[in-house]
Amino acid sequence: MVCGIIGITTEEGFTQEPLGKLIKDALKRLEYRGYDSVGLAVITEEGLLKIRKSKGMIDAVSQRLGFDSISGFNGIGHTRWATHGKPSDENAHPHTDCLGRVAVVHNGIIENYKKLKEFLIGEGHRFASDTDTEVIPHLVESFKKRGLSTYEAFKKTIELLEGAYALAMIDLEDPGKIFFAKKMSPLIIGLGNKGNFVASDVVAFLNHTRRVIVLVDGEAGYITPREVVVERMVREGGSVRWLPVDVERRVRVVEWSPEMALKEGYDFFMLKEIHEQPYALASTLSAANESVSDVARVLAKSERVLLLGAGTSYHATLITALLFRKYANLWAEALISSESRWWLNALSQGDVVIGVSQSGETIDTLRGIREAKERGALTIAVTNVVESAIAREADMAIYIRAGPEIGVAATKTFTSQVALLSYLAIKTGELRSVLKPSVAANIYNALRETPEIVARTLKESERLASLLADKMSFKNNAYYLGRGLGLPVAMEGALKMKEIAYVHAEAYPAGESKHGPIALVEEGFPVVFVILSKEEEELIKSNIEEMKARGAYAILVSPNNAEEALSLADFSFVMPALHEVASATSYVVPLQLLAYYTAVKKGLDPDKPRNLAKTVTVF
Ligand code: AGP
Repeated sequence: MVCGIIGITTEEGFTQEPLGKLIKDALKRLEYRGYDSVGLAVITEEGLLKIRKSKGMIDAVSQRLGFDSISGFNGIGHTRWATHGKPSDENAHPHTDCLGRVAVVHNGIIENYKKLKEFLIGEGHRFASDTDTEVIPHLVESFKKRGLSTYEAFKKTIELLEGAYALAMIDLEDPGKIFFAKKMSPLIIGLGNKGNFVASDVVAFLNHTRRVIVLVDGEAGYITPREVVVERMVREGGSVRWLPVDVERRVRVVEWSPEMALKEGYDFFMLKEIHEQPYALASTLSAANESVSDVARVLAKSERVLLLGAGTSYHATLITALLFRKYANLWAEALISSESRWWLNALSQGDVVIGVSQSGETIDTLRGIREAKERGALTIAVTNVVESAIAREADMAIYIRAGPEIGVAATKTFTSQVALLSYLAIKTGELRSVLKPSVAANIYNALRETPEIVARTLKESERLASLLADKMSFKNNAYYLGRGLGLPVAMEGALKMKEIAYVHAEAYPAGESKHGPIALVEEGFPVVFVILSKEEEELIKSNIEEMKARGAYAILVSPNNAEEALSLADFSFVMPALHEVASATSYVVPLQLLAYYTAVKKGLDPDKPRNLAKTVTVF
């Protein structure tokens, strides 16, 4: 997800076309990943390293910088989706060392780049960008200066990196090779005739070859036009060993059509994005401490916070408002952004207004932020898209790092929003001395476990969700009930069911259900109960009993220690018992899968629900 990488190493007779054009064509096929800048580096027959890069779209940049006419035999290309450093010519990849001999493209986040950069600046290296990536070529340069070969220097560099990465690197001083490494970002080798490839996605080289090797985390190596060398990094105590990997047996032939390849084999983008949640959460959380720190300092001194959002983003604001109140003793209210004008008059200087929007372009949220700013409030954007309208107009911006979301139904952006905003609320509570550092640390740790929990949930719930969807696909109505933090999770589950499976799904506070909604319940009426913690079980148990007494079909998303509630369920998604902040982030996953499979069983296209657009820019 996120940035796109391609590397092509060739020998004579590979094709007649200039390498720059082949790289550009491959980048075009990676365009769907979303990007703001593009660039390439090519080693020419004359022994030059040509680098062309710029902010902008591929066709325009390529035309302006003449990609199509750059010849050479070995090269790398990149589409960048900004994370560290705004979209700009300088921040576009490839990045080089001081001597302009080593060029690197990267997808992911180097978490410890600041420390590495300080060290390198101390050694005299000059940096040309704000990116985390640029430390890599400088580290390679630094190790080479100590007498190591390019490959040894590359491996030593990898040993120092913390975070997520898919990397491709070329070096003028070892010109026939493309060096690569992978950890938590996809990277695939393509085996061609008189040339080999490395890319973020098979779609980049599917027109040249279908023979691939899918790299796994911890692997690094290099390709030449005829050779693939892969090693696996093993850390033992304080030392690192590199073990050779026999990749011959891992060569497989991809049968995907180009359309399927775009979806990496998933039937729909929505399912692909549901499955990307562990990565999205891991990248968002790995940068969270740094990204929220300035905003948390501001919030720590404020008295009132208003959170604005629409649809799924509104549900993320509801969770956040509860967390600010409970964990930071901070008055906070969540508002549907299109309703914000009814509140804005009551705003005053010193209030903080946070606009949450995955796209950063939703007009209702943008207008709320504008109007709040006019009234003197401090405005903060929380979005997935660097330099989006809301990010530009707000006084401060923080970013989730979920990667582009193509399916209309928001999935990975929701869990990432909840994770980042939870981190922010806890940090604020810590700074306000409401939470002891040790208590806050426990919650951060619980949040950091969510990528793993979600990965496990995906494995365990997918078959169950598909089974339950057989039943749901024949229903016209459903209730989704929860209490406290569980209510916005239930609301999000209901929204997913409504928007892609067209089942009329309503969410209520569980305690409110008997004050009216229960009148509709009859034999077989599906009611989904979201229970986030053992503490909630006691309260919600009676609601389950009330509904069941009227014939409801009770579906539970519940921690495994809520035994009594679970014993009442007709169908359950049993989740690990977590801190409630971590449950609020991860318990929505079975409900996303349920909505997805219900839509598919009804023969609907979950990526393109009727009447909906991905970004709503009209009032
Ligand atoms: C979510 O599945 C929706 N398609 C929709 O409600 C969306 O969350 C809403 O339009 C807000 O979008 P934003 O996060 O880009 O502002």
